[in-house]
Amino acid sequence: MRQSSLVVVANRLPLDDNVAPDGACEWRRSPGGLAGALRAILQQTPATWVGWGGSIGDARPLPDIGPLRLCPIPLGEEELRGYYEGFANSTLWPLYHDAVEQPVFDRGWWETYRAVNRRFAEATAEVAERGATVWVQDYHLQLVPQLLRELRPDVLIGFFLHVPFPPPELFMQLPRRLELLRGMLGADLVGFQRPQAAHNVAQLAAKLLGARGADDAIILEDRVVRTGAFPVSIDVAEMRSLSARPYVLNQARQLRQDLGSHKRVLLSVDRLDYTKGIEHRLTAYSELLRDGKVKVRDAVMVQVAVPSRERVENYRGLRDRIEREVGRINGEYGRVGQPAIHYLNQPFDRADLAALYQAADVMVVTPLRDGMNLVAKEFVAARRDDTGALVLSEFAGAAAELGDAFLVNPHDVDGLKETLLQALAATPGDLATRMSAMRSYLTTHDIHAWARAYLTELEPARSLSR
Ligand code: ADP
Ligand code: G6P
Repeated sequence: MRQSSLVVVANRLPLDDNVAPDGACEWRRSPGGLAGALRAILQQTPATWVGWGGSIGDARPLPDIGPLRLCPIPLGEEELRGYYEGFANSTLWPLYHDAVEQPVFDRGWWETYRAVNRRFAEATAEVAERGATVWVQDYHLQLVPQLLRELRPDVLIGFFLHVPFPPPELFMQLPRRLELLRGMLGADLVGFQRPQAAHNVAQLAAKLLGARGADDAIILEDRVVRTGAFPVSIDVAEMRSLSARPYVLNQARQLRQDLGSHKRVLLSVDRLDYTKGIEHRLTAYSELLRDGKVKVRDAVMVQVAVPSRERVENYRGLRDRIEREVGRINGEYGRVGQPAIHYLNQPFDRADLAALYQAADVMVVTPLRDGMNLVAKEFVAARRDDTGALVLSEFAGAAAELGDAFLVNPHDVDGLKETLLQALAATPGDLATRMSAMRSYLTTHDIHAWARAYLTELEPARSLSR
């Protein structure tokens, strides 16, 4: 087994093993923010990525992506149910997102979650060079830092949580809270999207583990665990250069024409997830149509919602409800050849996404809770001429950085309606001021700056922890 000095461990590999319509296997970019963000930084760095390839059963060997080696972890049907669909996505995911859906505590899932975390830790221990840096990602693998420390005390271990870390009173509901906290604190540096998360963890470590310390360093037995906020970002240069391509510019023009050249275009792009606030957004838009504040002849909404975690109960119900609601709104307010909402349930490639971002007047990003939300940042990076409005939920991590957006509480449907109208009515001057401030912020806060900040902070932990 070839070894690397940098190993990234994430539930998903950057490529997803998919079955093409003709039955053949094909690889495509994995969905979601984590894979896209990490892929951007690892394309130029010699490293190994340990992760699951997205299919059930044996893992097929995978070719390198440039200097990046892929180490696939196999997952069987039962493991997928207990670890991924169960504990990760039916217990931790809803709990970490403010319990906007009820977390399920199923005792059977825990053992599988622990066993799969152990498999990831063992595979990582094999591919890490002596003294390597290992960077573990997200809630699926929260036990890996401690498991890996036991197997390989020589390696430097980082952990980054892409999703929010909940307030202590919610975390305390978890039947396995002690093990989960200890598992994560097995790292030398634990990174979060927001400073509040580090504060929550310091409080819990004191309460549950008798640890001492502060928001930036927890003293646990004989070790110091550093913590901090490192807001993740996007490949700004990639999105900028995509947006300047003639194909994308043409495509954006074509989209405007197809949607009705004189119409205002509102756009949303989400994984089909109940944390994204799609239903609240549809209610707000439908009421604006009902009240006559927005007219189908003047405006159109485009909702891109790519299917996600479809075998998990909460997600199936969500898709049905959204499709029914879009049908109802179009039935009630649409006209022949002029739907109120275009609903696209498909994956798009990067260039087509860039064209959509450029074609929109108002980007509506209204999650009920989101670790970061990279779509908001992609939209800003794609607006080369400082036009366009971003309506952004206060409950997305991105709101802390993109304060020049039209910030909104998505639970407040009246407030959401007002904010949408405000964004539609904003003057070009106001929009340009806001957009140019957000664009210049992103220039210096891109994905490379994120990785640099995290890894630079991780390195001094070497001397602290041993
Ligand atoms: P999450 O990680 O929860 O899915 P983010 O907004 O942080 O949310 O990241 C979503 C990522 O998935 C973005 O990079 C976005 O461009 C990508 N994405 C979303 N919808 C689609 C789609 N229909 N086709 C392709 N990529 C998509
Ligand atoms: C979020 C999570 C990621 C996850 C992604 C897509 O961004 O933080 O860890 O990979 O959603 O979800 P999926 O279940 O398809 O991997």
